[in-house]
Amino acid sequence: MRDLVDFLLEESYKICHVKGRQVLDSRGKPTVEAEVATIGGGVGISQVPAGASKGRYEAWELRDKDPKKFKGYGVLKAVENINNVIAKEIVGLDSRRQKLIDRKMIELDGTPNKAKLGANTILAVSMSVLKAAADTYGLPLFRYIGGYNARVLPTPFMNIINGGKHAGNELSIQEFMIIPGGLESFNEALRAACEVYYELREILKEKYGLIAVNVGDEGGFAPPMKNSREALNALVKAIKRAGYVEGQDIALALDAAATSFYVSDKGKYFIDGKHFEPYELLDYYIELINEYPIVSIEDPFYEEDFEMFSQLTSKVGNEVLIVGDDLFATNMNRLKKGVREKAANAILIKMNQIGTISETLEVINYALKVNYQPIISHRSGETEDYMIADLAVGTNVGAIKTGAPARSERTVKYNRLLRISEILFEEAEYAGFKIFPSKPK
Ligand code: PGA
Ligand code: ZN
Repeated sequence: MRDLVDFLLEESYKICHVKGRQVLDSRGKPTVEAEVATIGGGVGISQVPAGASKGRYEAWELRDKDPKKFKGYGVLKAVENINNVIAKEIVGLDSRRQKLIDRKMIELDGTPNKAKLGANTILAVSMSVLKAAADTYGLPLFRYIGGYNARVLPTPFMNIINGGKHAGNELSIQEFMIIPGGLESFNEALRAACEVYYELREILKEKYGLIAVNVGDEGGFAPPMKNSREALNALVKAIKRAGYVEGQDIALALDAAATSFYVSDKGKYFIDGKHFEPYELLDYYIELINEYPIVSIEDPFYEEDFEMFSQLTSKVGNEVLIVGDDLFATNMNRLKKGVREKAANAILIKMNQIGTISETLEVINYALKVNYQPIISHRSGETEDYMIADLAVGTNVGAIKTGAPARSERTVKYNRLLRISEILFEEAEYAGFKIFPSKPK
């Protein structure tokens, strides 16, 4: 009898259904959704996000390029690949064998950057396999990922002033973030961040008029500002007006996304209305770090410049996180190169930069081993999928970047974290400022 029960239990994890479809992302562009179900009734549905300031080393995003439909952005080929190529290969496999299934899809694709089937195609299935297995167990996703040990609620990096490719203004730096790391719990941190966001809205309206409170792709404001100090001053003012102490309760962070203002034929950076030599840009960052409570700078130089990254890391890495996003592209080989060259001390984790769950987890685990802080991240084009919240808690990395506390494709992740914090209850730990090399000034 016992044997029969064991047999049925094992059977229940087997995949019996895989289906893809085309849905819309937060920019109204088509994206891939995949559905996976197991014999035991477990279901996983996932949607894939899309970047605007995409790194050159990211895995391939497959688009139809049919100009008559969705201006070429359609993903029907990806959907076809799920339904006609991937489905028959993975139906019947045990959904818990994530690595095997991911490897199968990587082999089916056969290219180094998933260019044949598309990383968006493969990732949608990979995410749904993970969710279907968790659901068959009857476990919340973060528990399936991290077991009993999963308990750290991540410190949010919240982009509340948008520039660069995410906004129609003149700010060169793409993201000006607040980090409510000095608050007691995730819930308090989220509340404080919302309060700062409301004050910022008022401050921007007073100074620039109503036009300034339009929001960019990630829910942050996109005011008609011209330089970085203007944005940083507004953030400090908003923190103060909300009744918090800058640096102590809430710190600041930047994502320069410097590839987007690198002028390659000149070897210079065009930022805040001026051309900067790389070493001048480095000095500029150091000035900003001295003037403001900045605890993290992402992609301070363009995506090939390991050398300038390591110079900045050697100068400020003992107090500030230097984060590689486009630099590493969630790619193990690039991360290893970065570690060898001491290029950074943190890595942004975007599942669709690499294209499978098991490779994403491998990069996270390696980063933790070599003392690089992983930051689990959304993309500027998002969906209602909240899996990154579970990934952050399941891996206990302690950091998430998922935009302003506005627009449902952003808040769905924060709201999921609120629900997870209820499930964890007194077992929950808030990462706060502990993830930074030193406490902010
Ligand atoms: P993206 O931007 O999703 O447009 O690439 C996010 C980031 O650079 O961190
Ligand atoms: Zn970035």
